[in-house]
Amino acid sequence: MASLPSSCWHWVPLLSLLLVAMDEMAMASLYDDIDVVWGKDHSFFYTDAPDDNQTLALCLDKTHGSAFHTKEAYLYARFDVDLMLVPDNSAGTVTTLYLMPEDAPWEYHDEVDLEFLGNATGEPYTLHTNIFVNGVGHRVQQFRLWFDPAADFHTYSIDWNPKRITILVDGVPIRDFKNNEKDGVPFPTWQKMRLQGSLWNADDWATQGGRIKTDWSAAPFYANYRNLRVSWCQPSPGVAWCGDEPPESTWFEQGLDAAALRNARDTHMIYDYCNDDNQFKAKEFPKECTLD
Ligand SMILES: *[C@@H]1O[C@H](CO)[C@@H](O)[C@H](O)[C@H]1NC(C)=O
Ligand SMILES: *[C@@H]1O[C@H](CO)[C@@H](O)[C@H](O)[C@H]1NC(C)=O
Repeated sequence: MASLPSSCWHWVPLLSLLLVAMDEMAMASLYDDIDVVWGKDHSFFYTDAPDDNQTLALCLDKTHGSAFHTKEAYLYARFDVDLMLVPDNSAGTVTTLYLMPEDAPWEYHDEVDLEFLGNATGEPYTLHTNIFVNGVGHRVQQFRLWFDPAADFHTYSIDWNPKRITILVDGVPIRDFKNNEKDGVPFPTWQKMRLQGSLWNADDWATQGGRIKTDWSAAPFYANYRNLRVSWCQPSPGVAWCGDEPPESTWFEQGLDAAALRNARDTHMIYDYCNDDNQFKAKEFPKECTLD
């Protein structure tokens, strides 16, 4: 494991020069595929022996955090990335991985969200997930991971295709949002999205409801991303663009391991909006909760 700098700050122009050199050496180069879009001076690329794969470290200190997105935007793709979270006392910090379109007005705001809510030393992270379509979210499911996500890299995936959106952890499906447009459930089908990631301070709400604050004496905090893989939709023969891919498109035949999904929900899910009578007290449950 590379030892990361003891301060987030660095001089960006100099680092950019180093990056060009590193880039040529790196086997798997994240630098080619993403842009740091917030807190450029609070992020680092580094490579580690033995494989020299490139890792992006997002850094958070009392001043601010940092964020990246993929250079390309995609309509239907599977994204896999390896991520190692802030270790020890990560209370108040939030590390994210999400899909979002660029510049969509709120009524067209779509989002597929993974947020890792930090915790006090020895207490578990919460993986908070949500799905927004056409500006409406309220689709939270939360999970406990079955490993320490700060001890090592683990693979987190979002598979967005015409049939469904699946969230996977180390290849295990934990969440499935079906395309039930035919039954009136909105589903993102037409605008391109980018994969984004960030590390930021949210100690007003993230940890135990905001009661546990970020311990700045433990800063800087680092979240490490590596091995981004994107396989995106190319239209099938006779289909003009991926927005017209039919749900039965042969492009997306990976299918879903329903037994694994059921097991993950039974074992690791700690909150499901579809079971939350309080949230929908006055209103009807969202349509998808009543479908299979
Ligand atoms: C390094 O990258 C290569 C090519 O993407 C990949 O096959 C390999 O698994 C990576 N190694 C690690 C340790 O992540
Ligand atoms: C932090 O740990 C406490 C105690 O185990 C737990 O109740 C809580 O859900 C955990 N996660 C967050 C984000 O507060």
